[in-house]
Amino acid sequence: MIGVIQTVLLTAGLVSAASLQSVSGWGSNPSGIQMSIYVPDRLASKPPVIVALHGCGGTGQQMYSSSRFQTYADQYGFIMIYPSSNTKQGVACWDNHTPQSLTHNGGSDTQGIVQQVQYTLNKYNGDPNRVYAIGFSSGAMMTNNLAAAYPDVFEAGAPFAGVPAACFAGSGSSAPGASNMTCANGQVIKSAQDWGNYARNAYPGYTGRRTRMQIWHGSADSLVLPALFQEELKQWSNVLGVSLTSTNSNNPESGYTQYLYGDGKKLVGYMAAGAGHGGVPYHESMVLDFFGVLTTPATSTITTTRTTTATTTMSPTTTPRTTPATTTPPVSPGGSQSKWGQCGGVGWTGFTACSAPAACSTLNPYYAQCL
Ligand SMILES: *[C@@H]1O[C@H](CO)[C@@H](O)[C@H](O)[C@H]1NC(C)=O
Repeated sequence: MIGVIQTVLLTAGLVSAASLQSVSGWGSNPSGIQMSIYVPDRLASKPPVIVALHGCGGTGQQMYSSSRFQTYADQYGFIMIYPSSNTKQGVACWDNHTPQSLTHNGGSDTQGIVQQVQYTLNKYNGDPNRVYAIGFSSGAMMTNNLAAAYPDVFEAGAPFAGVPAACFAGSGSSAPGASNMTCANGQVIKSAQDWGNYARNAYPGYTGRRTRMQIWHGSADSLVLPALFQEELKQWSNVLGVSLTSTNSNNPESGYTQYLYGDGKKLVGYMAAGAGHGGVPYHESMVLDFFGVLTTPATSTITTTRTTTATTTMSPTTTPRTTPATTTPPVSPGGSQSKWGQCGGVGWTGFTACSAPAACSTLNPYYAQCL
């Protein structure tokens, strides 16, 4: 019955009925994180799986609302996972510093995220060879750490405003405002070989495929300094065994410089002149093209696995996805966001006031932050 209704809707070309859903019971969850998932109505057979990781103070819901990956998922049939970190560091940041998180099967956030991936691959018969990660800020740092600790899981990654894998090792915290910010301040400078060793040490003895990387940063980033862009490129050029071929200005658009390594298929960087933290838009189509998921599904299947949630979203009067889904966190009047957290931007439905002395600063149309 559900399948029949979906087929009619799809044939009629009506608005997608899929929405962001929270998931429980996906794994042992060593660090108390949460999982939300976006499964499009029309899934590719053996769908690719992409993890999208929020920055400090954000949530999976906020990452979903502030990016457009799901519109491509609707078209190309891949699955998006939007994890949410917990607040163990005082603010909802990813654990980018403990030995547990920086080690293959060591525990903490990296292992929890990989459990979410395994759950999704099993439940939807996903393609284990086409799993990817993207992230912003703390989520970009996590993208690098996932690539180091789980190269066997992630085929490619795209960090926006991140730091090299294990840059925060030994710092005691990877939350903004912590006492030791030498990494984010761009003061941890190493050789390509040393950075490569940091990444390889996350999974000692591993000799298989390495995660391909597309790296983005703004040249005016004052929170995660632009020097980190070069340190990330050093690290992955060493791990992937590719060297700088050319730098190309005004690529892919005015003000951006492309750093091309080898033929660009394993490693490429984009520095946006004048862009601050959160000032580099996600460039969804370029990220997804680098991942290799923008191919029309050869065989498509109608998923019937979401029957429990489908009934509420299946009528032709379904509200467009741009209206907040039922999982949107309520905004308490008088509540405020903590320092470094998001406080505005297109699609943002959380707190818009900042806890003093922080003030809300608009970084771009999609992101305002308590600074
Ligand atoms: C600060 O953190 C860096 C890593 O980001 C680490 O190498 C260094 O030892 C730490 N310094 C102190 C004093 O803990």
